[in-house]
Amino acid sequence: MVSYFPDTPYAIAVVGAASGIGHAAARFLADQGVHVGCLDADAKGNAATAASLPAGRAIAHAVDVTDASTIAPALDAVERAFGRLDGLVNCAGITGITNRKAHEVDLDDFDRVYRINLRGAMALSVAVLPRLLARNYGRLLHVASIAGKEGNAGMAAYSATKAGLIGLVKSMAKDYATTGVTINGLAPAVIRTPMVAALPEAQVTYMTDKIPMRRCGTLDEVAALIAWIVSPACSFTTGFTFDLSGGRATY
Ligand SMILES: NC(=O)c1ccc[n+]([C@@H]2O[C@H](COP(=O)([O-])OP(=O)(O)OC[C@H]3O[C@@H](n4cnc5c(N)ncnc54)[C@H](O)[C@@H]3O)[C@@H](O)[C@H]2O)c1
Repeated sequence: MVSYFPDTPYAIAVVGAASGIGHAAARFLADQGVHVGCLDADAKGNAATAASLPAGRAIAHAVDVTDASTIAPALDAVERAFGRLDGLVNCAGITGITNRKAHEVDLDDFDRVYRINLRGAMALSVAVLPRLLARNYGRLLHVASIAGKEGNAGMAAYSATKAGLIGLVKSMAKDYATTGVTINGLAPAVIRTPMVAALPEAQVTYMTDKIPMRRCGTLDEVAALIAWIVSPACSFTTGFTFDLSGGRATY
């Protein structure tokens, strides 16, 4: 396996590590020798992820990105366990209700999606950036979505919050471009995770039909790209939202 972290041990917090893309990223990073802080609102799934990683390489700590007061204690726990914090990968996200036209959107559901996907990302950034800036090095990656680049029909809240997240990444990156801290996004198309399994079949068909490669992305593909983006090897890119869409978005 190619090593993206030559002089480990780095320590990286993975938010949303209990499931899907976050789980795969935590595993890939741990296999690279990185110390991983598994953070999630799902305590049981999160503990299971940490326990499945090589001994001594991971801790689990609760975090709810909608409650900013839970974030600093979680980052403290990662720093205490591993003596440093080199970056954060934010994979916490929800789709909310989908397969609905915009005029049918439930505003309470819209708020719920916003509080996790966009406000939660802001809260994580506010908490982690001073820690990275203090060391003049850091990698912050927010997992957005192809829906934020292109807009998926039937997914107004999800598309809008992911587009907002891409804008947030562009803006924050410029604030810190000279500091050694990079801030990037990632826009996957469809990856088969529990989130996708819970969507209405019509919504999944709509999304997968738009992928020129005619297949979904794999968890290995997304985890490898995440690991590279938060490694020291990815050093001249900030404010960018990487594509992982089988050709759907080529910008
Ligand atoms: N799977 C895909 O096809 C796909 C495509 C594009 C983007 N994404 C994005 O990738 C990210 C991960 O998605 P996934 O498919 O792995 O989903 P998933 O549902 O498998 O995992 C999401 C994780 O986020 C956690 N989470 C939810 N709310 C939280 C909160 N308030 N605080 C802390 N943790 C919380 C969940 O407990 C879960 O472990 C999401 O942001 C999603 O929007 C996924």
